Amino acid sequence: MDVRRIRDDFPLLRKGGLVYMDSACQSLKPDVVIESMDRYNREFPACGGRSVHRLANRVSIEVDESREAISRLIGSPSPDSVVFTKNCTEAINTVAKGLGLRPGDRVLTTDIEHNSNHIPWLRLQEQGVGRAYSPTEDGILDLDSFQDALDPSVRLVSMVHTSNVTGTTLPAKEVVEIAHDNGSLVMLDGAQHVGHSPVDVAKLDVDLYTVSVQKMLGPTGLGVLYGKEEVLEGLEPLSVGGGTVGIADYDSVELLPPPERFEAGLLNYAAIIGAGSAAGYLEAIGLDVVREHETSLNRALRSRLAAIPEVSILGPEDASLRAGICSFNVDGLGSHDVAMILDETAGVLIRSGMHCCHPWFRSRGLAGCARASMHIYNDLEDVSRLADGVEDMVSTFCR
Ligand code: ALA
Repeated sequence: MDVRRIRDDFPLLRKGGLVYMDSACQSLKPDVVIESMDRYNREFPACGGRSVHRLANRVSIEVDESREAISRLIGSPSPDSVVFTKNCTEAINTVAKGLGLRPGDRVLTTDIEHNSNHIPWLRLQEQGVGRAYSPTEDGILDLDSFQDALDPSVRLVSMVHTSNVTGTTLPAKEVVEIAHDNGSLVMLDGAQHVGHSPVDVAKLDVDLYTVSVQKMLGPTGLGVLYGKEEVLEGLEPLSVGGGTVGIADYDSVELLPPPERFEAGLLNYAAIIGAGSAAGYLEAIGLDVVREHETSLNRALRSRLAAIPEVSILGPEDASLRAGICSFNVDGLGSHDVAMILDETAGVLIRSGMHCCHPWFRSRGLAGCARASMHIYNDLEDVSRLADGVEDMVSTFCR
């Protein structure tokens, strides 16, 4: 893979100057994605699935094509299992609100969930739906404790596929098998996984899967909820209205089958069409290639940061277990200070704070961490800029 050629596809990188290492928050978008959104707005800015004129038909066709592209990217058996949502958070909320969980049912997560896979269940606790946490060590799930936490009351296992803090990936196949043996449904939060590593929801046999399009080189403000046909059939939509209806009378309604049932109102067509381009772009590179590239950068970054005594890395020492994420702290400096100093002095952009995983940080007495997160467009020069920046910071502020 030629990283220089890939970097050329990204306007921000062509401009030069900055090192972008905040892709776990939001990835950059390549030209093809920007151009397809622009094409929609300039050439056929109509609504899909309603009017029958030529522009509207084109929207409907391109939305279908995008759904097919996302379906291929995640290994869905059918595009009808791919629902477009506002974001990954809305996808998880759709399941939390629509699954029909009752008092006495329980939801089992890990202890390192993003707030998006935490707060919806916390809210359900107010209605008597129980909650349990499976412990992780260095971000790695303890499968024995997971198995022990299961009982017939666990209706749903909802876990992060790849952690946005440690970068560790769940042994998803084992988790699904163990949970299914218990009779529980499984949802995986794939926000940090899709676009970085191959995923095949059919092979995993996972019941529900969520995607953040803005983290897979796609447009902002779009997510995906994948569900097995029978699971989506039984799920109550989060909102209903135009676009979800087969036929309605004054006192009755027949909803359309999934996915339309879940896509109420006019959609973000530009983003949906851009998402299809992002999926095609990633497929052309190959998700194995993306994963290998991120791992090799992370190994290089680890070896530089591990040589600085004031730096401690969160998660497993083995960088190959941390995808494209390297979270770290610098003795004596707050994580926001680290991020601001790197921006100011080295032009390196990373994220800091608790990364929306408050309970995990607070339970460990940590105020947060600095997080460098990489994608296909980062290179070894970026790694050096970050590591040099941290070395300079440490000599200036910590010694
Ligand atoms: N979940 C995103 C992050 O980790 C927002 O930065």
